[in-house]
Amino acid sequence: MAASGVGSNLRNLVERGFNIVAVATNRPSCGAATFSRGRRIPLGELPQKTFGSAELRDIAMRDFFMRHRVELVVDAGYDRVHTKPFLDAFEGRIINIHPSLLPEFGGGMDAVEQAIESGAKATGATVHVVTDAVDAGPILVQEAVPILEGDTVETLRQRIHEAEYRILPVAIGLMEAKLANSSTVG
Ligand code: GAR
Repeated sequence: MAASGVGSNLRNLVERGFNIVAVATNRPSCGAATFSRGRRIPLGELPQKTFGSAELRDIAMRDFFMRHRVELVVDAGYDRVHTKPFLDAFEGRIINIHPSLLPEFGGGMDAVEQAIESGAKATGATVHVVTDAVDAGPILVQEAVPILEGDTVETLRQRIHEAEYRILPVAIGLMEAKLANSSTVG
């Protein structure tokens, strides 16, 4: 998993019994990093300032995940865009969770704020396959979340998180089935 934030999706997957073999972060003080240390999940600490470019950071992340035999990369609150060396190494095996019904409110880390400001009646959560088109790869699962009268960024974020805890495990299951099929063909 690649993460930069609170780490609640990571916690949810661990509590549901998913085998998280390694976590990489660009923010060693984030909640996901603290959680990984506490659970003794191998943690790759890759702050951008220690690398000369995004590609060099991604080569280090690629090598870290390969060492740990990662089969599927899950971006959960990861706030960097993967570059070519990483995308090439894990092509078709990276998924991302995003707190909106993509393609609405894509492209940043402020989808919940954007949804509130837009005056829309609903938003949601999406899990999609990561390609070089940011937040635009093939969609695996989506769940709509209504925006209620009086919602704040915090209350809406909490309900979107609850949707995320439901759809990310479903999306991982879909990917596991897909990858198992592809490895048994020819
Ligand atoms: C999640 O809501 C995820 O959808 C969002 O960051 C949050 C991380 O929460 N990701 C993005 O906005 C990606 N553009 P968590 O650290 O508690 O799992």
